[in-house]
Amino acid sequence: MCGIVGYTGQRQAAPILLDGLSKLEYRGYDSAGLAVRNRDGEIEIVKAKGRLAVLSEKTDGGRTLQGCCGIGHTRWATHGEPSENNAHPHCSDDGNVVGVHNGIIENYQELREKLQRNGYRFYSGTDTEVAVKLIDYYYKKYLGTPVDAINHAMVRIRGSYALAIMFKEYPGEVFAARKESPMILGVADGECYLASDVPAILKYTRNVYYIGNMEIGRLKDGKVTFYNLDGDEIEKELVEILWDAEAAEKAGYEHFMMKEIHEQPRAITDTLNSVLQDGALNLDGVGLTDEELKDISHICIVACGSAYHVGAVAQYVIEDLAKLPVRVELASEFRYRSLLLDPKELVVIISQSGETADSLAALREAKKRGASTLAVVNVVGSSIAREADHVFYTMAGPEIAVATTKAYSAQLIAVYCLAAQLGKVRGTITEEYYQELVREMTLLPEKVNKVLEEKGRLQWFAAKQANAKDVFFIGRGVDYAVSLEGSLKLKEISYIHSEAYAAGELKHGTISLIEDGTLVISVVTQSALFEKIVSNMVECKSRGAQLFGLTSYGNYSIEDTADFVTYVPKTDEHFAASLAVVPLQLLAYYVSLARGLDVDKPRNLAKSVTVE
Ligand code: M6R
Repeated sequence: MCGIVGYTGQRQAAPILLDGLSKLEYRGYDSAGLAVRNRDGEIEIVKAKGRLAVLSEKTDGGRTLQGCCGIGHTRWATHGEPSENNAHPHCSDDGNVVGVHNGIIENYQELREKLQRNGYRFYSGTDTEVAVKLIDYYYKKYLGTPVDAINHAMVRIRGSYALAIMFKEYPGEVFAARKESPMILGVADGECYLASDVPAILKYTRNVYYIGNMEIGRLKDGKVTFYNLDGDEIEKELVEILWDAEAAEKAGYEHFMMKEIHEQPRAITDTLNSVLQDGALNLDGVGLTDEELKDISHICIVACGSAYHVGAVAQYVIEDLAKLPVRVELASEFRYRSLLLDPKELVVIISQSGETADSLAALREAKKRGASTLAVVNVVGSSIAREADHVFYTMAGPEIAVATTKAYSAQLIAVYCLAAQLGKVRGTITEEYYQELVREMTLLPEKVNKVLEEKGRLQWFAAKQANAKDVFFIGRGVDYAVSLEGSLKLKEISYIHSEAYAAGELKHGTISLIEDGTLVISVVTQSALFEKIVSNMVECKSRGAQLFGLTSYGNYSIEDTADFVTYVPKTDEHFAASLAVVPLQLLAYYVSLARGLDVDKPRNLAKSVTVE
């Protein structure tokens, strides 16, 4: 959470920093701030509570801050409420050290007390102010260089951080330090950039360095020098980012979410094509040979939020196609549970950002316990991607809206590929059926486009739900798994309370919540379960529910029960979630729009949850 940027070069820093922050606002948006060193060598700090637009207005688009070296921050509050005072940058009492931070300093109380004993005063409730003052303390204590001071502070700080720091006595330089929180450093023609994520600097450079854990970077004169904790210089490889800069823009859509919903066919195609060779799947590039796949005894899928919901779909699909025991665990639970892992178990971590703190910790825990690990990750070079034994990159491209859509769809196709390949090598499906599954996967993008054509009807229906109080999603099997995602989409961007239930579970308590007019959304794509779920729908209807049926073309009898029906094309039923999720995404989007909310940046949330 929180986004940080830094720049040093020949151009005015503030507009570049604001532009970079605008691409990181998805990481936090309760306050923002800039620090720019002016011509007289003074570091000027401007902060504002609220969205970045407030800061931009306050600085006239950055024009009131003159200077070619600076740092910036957009905040998602952890320590200290959202306020101008708590907004970053923070500085030492004499303005000697100024810094921005993404992460959490766990021992900030202890460090704060130590600094107070040494005469430091604190003006904010943040852990960041403590980090900045600790660096100042060591800088003065050892009369050393910024690298020495940062090194000493890094040894004392517990927790996670991506820090960008300026020192008064080092004009034209920005220092970076990292532990766990994401950060990239870019270079281009005498200029240096720093950011929490690639889209923030993609417009300016494609040449980046990934700074490692417990490493320091010094940005100066278009060059980045890296140091380890001993202060020794270390070499880093310059990596070229292949993403299209346009991918991080809205391309004429009103919101990133709608743009990303429409990018799903491409995300599915690109992800599938990355492992498709001559009509068959090949996971060698992922690092999983057929021999290794054959040897797996169990699968444990670990993730958070929507990525966990992909795991819920995968559980049904892999168990059915590959006849392998699969369990799905929330990363925040997995990491603290003494779960027994079979020596031949594959632990699959699913994450769009590759930086989710709980998922990263779960990955490390799984590795510690000797399990083989596979990451299904979207962001290239992210921590989870770098630390897992094997990586299956989803090809969704940059996803900006907080509510995930195209990354979810790309993750689904990745787990279908895994399921089909496991089924093939384990001999649990025939070669003919395998071929049919692969063919069905290639047809999914076209079918998603067909669902998108129905958006007008969904907008009409959504507009009528703007005042709904509670919404329930029900389904069985894969339909239950996709209901979980539909419900999360709706609640996170419309703020309407919603729950997803396995349809058969409803009468064990939840049905008492159904009142006259309560909306119940039933996902019905699994033919073997069709009659069962229709019975559950009737139970709700007889208690006053308004029924929305989401089913495949051909299941027209659902119209006898449901009040409103949306159809999706038929596909192999293992893959039905890829189509059923689209109307649910559109419904959430249009309900949020009808309620006049900020679709891309829902309250209290951030795109990547890099704190526990
Ligand atoms: O980056 P990750 O995939 O690890 O993120 C996991 C969740 O935080 C994420 O899916 C979240 O639930 C989304 N906001 C849902 O739309």
